Amino acid sequence: RPVSPDPNLTNCASIKPFIGNRTIINCCPPVSHNIMDFKLPINPIVKVRPAAHSVNATYLENYKEAIRRMKALPPNDPRNFYQQANIHCTYCEGAYKQAGFPNLDFRIHYSWLFFPFHRWYIYFYERILASLIKDLDPNFAIPFWNWDSPVGMQIPACYHIDPTSPLYDSRRNPNHLPPVLINLEYDYGKKDQNTPETNLQIMYRTVVSTSKTPTLFFGGAYRAGDYKGFSGAGGGSVEMVLHGGVHEWTGPEPADKKANGEDMGTFYSAARDPIFYSHHANLDRLWTIWKTLGGKRKDITDSDWLESGFLFYDENKNLVRVKVKDCLDTTKLGYVYQDVDVPWLYVKP
Ligand code: C2O
Repeated sequence: RPVSPDPNLTNCASIKPFIGNRTIINCCPPVSHNIMDFKLPINPIVKVRPAAHSVNATYLENYKEAIRRMKALPPNDPRNFYQQANIHCTYCEGAYKQAGFPNLDFRIHYSWLFFPFHRWYIYFYERILASLIKDLDPNFAIPFWNWDSPVGMQIPACYHIDPTSPLYDSRRNPNHLPPVLINLEYDYGKKDQNTPETNLQIMYRTVVSTSKTPTLFFGGAYRAGDYKGFSGAGGGSVEMVLHGGVHEWTGPEPADKKANGEDMGTFYSAARDPIFYSHHANLDRLWTIWKTLGGKRKDITDSDWLESGFLFYDENKNLVRVKVKDCLDTTKLGYVYQDVDVPWLYVKP
C-alpha cells in the first residue's frame, strides 16, 4: 500500500534531532483541516531555473527580495522562511506518523520517496517566493547549484560574498568557503580532495555506473506499514553519495559541538540555509538528466510509489495533498533547468 503522512496535523509530534545535543524541538506546521487535492496546471508557463553561478544582477536582487519578504512574514504563517525550513524537519526527523499507522513514523529519507518529496517541497517553496515578488518577477524560478560541473564546484558567490544578504548563512564550514573546491563524496573527518577531475569521476560513477536501475537510483521501496529509522539502509546512490556529501561538506563538522551540525549538516536545520534549495534543485535536475541516459533508467512504475503522498502549504496558505505520480514531468509542473554543459557524461572513471 502507498504511504502518506497522517493528514490530521494535530498529531504531528515534537522530535529529538538525529545528531548534536538532541534537545527536543517542535517543528510542526500550523494546523489546517481543509485539505485540497493538487491539480496539475493546464498549459503552465514553463519557467527556467538558472545555474546559481550565472545569474545576473536583476535576478539576484529579485531573489534576495523574495527571501527577505519570506523571512519577514509572521512566524506562524506557513509561508514564512523558517516554517518552510521546518517542513524538512517534520518530514525527515519523524514528526509525522503514517496515515493508518499511528505508531509508525513517516520519513522520506533513505527510500524511493527521496526524489519526489524534495521535488514537491522546493516546487511549493518556489511558488511562494514567486508570489511574494509578483510585483517584480511573477515567474521567478529558484537557482540550482551546479556542483556537478567545474564552473559550479564551490559555494556560489550569491550565497557567500555579502554577509548582510538574506542568502548568507554564517553556519557553514569556514574551511570550505570559496575558492575551496567541493568534494562531492565528502565524509566528515576525511581529507578533502578538491579536484574537478575526481568530482567528475564521482559524478559518472554515481549517476551512471551505480544507478543502472530505478531501485539503485531512487532507493528501496517504502510502503505503508514499513518501519524506517535513521540508518541509511534503503537510500539510493545519489542520495547517499552526492546528496549527503554536499550537505556534510557545506555544514560544520559534528566535532564542532557548539554547532550541532547546523545548518546544512543535519536534517532539522538543513533548510534554514537558503543554499539548501539550490542544492536540492541540482539533485532534482540530475533526476531529469538520469532519465535520458537509457537502459533501465526510468521512473518507477509501482503504484505504491506513484500513489504515495505528501502535504504542503501553497502560496495562498492552502494545505494541498500531492501525489508522486503528478511530479514526474517537470514541464507539467511548469519548470525546466537552464541547459548547461554536463561534462561528467564524457568522463569514464
Ligand atoms: Cu531531505 Cu538534503 O535533505
